[in-house]
Amino acid sequence: MKAYPKVSKICCIGAGYVGGPTCTVIASKCTDITVTIVDINESRIAQWNSDSLPIFEPGLEEIVKSRRGQNLFFSTDILKAVKEADLIFISVNTPTKNFGVGKGRAADLKHIEACARLIADHSTSSKIVVEKSTVPVRAAESLSRILKANTKPGVTYQVLSNPEFLAEGTAICDLLNPDRVLIGGEDTEEGQLAIAALSSVYEVWVPKERIITTNTWSSELSKLTANAFLAQRISSINAISAVCEATGADVSEVARAIGMDTRLGPKFLQSSVGFGGSCFQKDLLNLVYISECLNLPEVAEYWQQVLNMNEFQKSRFAKRIVETMFNTITNKKITLLGFAFKKNTGDTRESPAIYIAKYLLEEGAVLQIYDPKVDSKQVFADLSGTLSVNLSEVVTVSKNPYDAAVGSHAIVVCTEWDEFTSLDYERMYSRMLKPAFVFDGRKILNHKKLIDIGFHVETIGCKLNNIGLD
Ligand code: UDX
Ligand code: UDX
Repeated sequence: MKAYPKVSKICCIGAGYVGGPTCTVIASKCTDITVTIVDINESRIAQWNSDSLPIFEPGLEEIVKSRRGQNLFFSTDILKAVKEADLIFISVNTPTKNFGVGKGRAADLKHIEACARLIADHSTSSKIVVEKSTVPVRAAESLSRILKANTKPGVTYQVLSNPEFLAEGTAICDLLNPDRVLIGGEDTEEGQLAIAALSSVYEVWVPKERIITTNTWSSELSKLTANAFLAQRISSINAISAVCEATGADVSEVARAIGMDTRLGPKFLQSSVGFGGSCFQKDLLNLVYISECLNLPEVAEYWQQVLNMNEFQKSRFAKRIVETMFNTITNKKITLLGFAFKKNTGDTRESPAIYIAKYLLEEGAVLQIYDPKVDSKQVFADLSGTLSVNLSEVVTVSKNPYDAAVGSHAIVVCTEWDEFTSLDYERMYSRMLKPAFVFDGRKILNHKKLIDIGFHVETIGCKLNNIGLD
């Protein structure tokens, strides 16, 4: 079998949460490959080239600084990078469509198509084009058709699917030590050669047995399926948390008991205020939509229920805050600890904190928000639009948690940041109105200690023995 020429120049289109860290790690591990990450967003590229990177990920800054200007480049010159590359990752966003057919459910592939057309129009040499973005099944086929319909003489393309499984907050660890790398391609000689070429990039640091190859459609569907299963586990334990609250069982104890069954395993059983992030909801909606299009309404309904349960969990928690605080929070100051969708990231996409904040604001509350990595600009952007209140009058973003507690009736934990577990809650309590409430939406605080201080504490999936008010 012929060998594909060794990959020496990689271009990544899309310098976001996926493209940025992924290709930075490739550059750090494969110092003989020149990696250029490009984006249409000029300010994002300027940030990647500055001391203040556009995204926060533990360990990312060190690697960027060690490779930038050596074999790692961030640029807005997309055409140059595309022309020079022998392998192109497409890592642009694939948001849920907000218009037309499939509105609110289907993935919008306009950015992927724009990339395909740009590559076809400007390439003067053959390329391996790799779908990194999460896409619906058979998107590679469309990509391939657009490329082939616009091919210049002497230029050939191989389209591969290589979904990324990194989780935000642990992206660098996930990339350095992936459970598996998945590469899907055509079952032809050229397809297999392209797979081998991409595989050789990962083989520099990933053991070969962890690099799995499949056909393209299996690879695309595996990514949607992985996210759907992970989200389903969270919705399953959250459904049980509601049963626990009604019966006196404790969801943490149930999770521990079932997680020790090796068939189930302990991960992704942390009951919470609900899952957020840019992927789970989008990918589930996408799977629901695909199932409907394939005339499989029962399958669509099954996965839709995972999303419904997540909405139920968020709304249950928000309602409980109001009910516990004597059924009114009008003009009451409430402290929100955490706004990001999970710890160790500044990302707020689909964060349950946004839902909770909007609900409390609609009920007339005044919010004092603190998150270690989310700035006030982002908080106001996320809360703008739907509300009937003047945000600047009812929302303050604090630089530290103690300021956020001044004059407040309640603390609501929305994100599981480690630093929230070691705050001085006596100090917080002394600054608050009484009775002072804590609503721990992440089950991370020492509830007994808080009750001893004098707080009334509510959490997910268990009843606590609060003194006095009950
Ligand atoms: C996104 C999706 O959420 C995920 O499902 C998919 O797997 C990869 O893309 P993420 O990296 O988190 O993940 O998205 P985002 O941070 O929005 O980055 C996408 C980048 O692509 C943006 O910086 C955007 O400016 C850029 N882009 C988009 C282009 O450079 N060209 C385009 O035509 C469109
Ligand atoms: C997810 C997948 O894990 C990753 O493989 C894929 O590439 C992208 O989507 P991400 O959304 O970055 O990653 O974070 P993840 O750790 O999966 O958490 C998603 C949400 O679920 C967060 O809001 C998190 O707080 C919540 N969660 C997670 C729980 O509520 N309970 C858990 O046990 C685990």
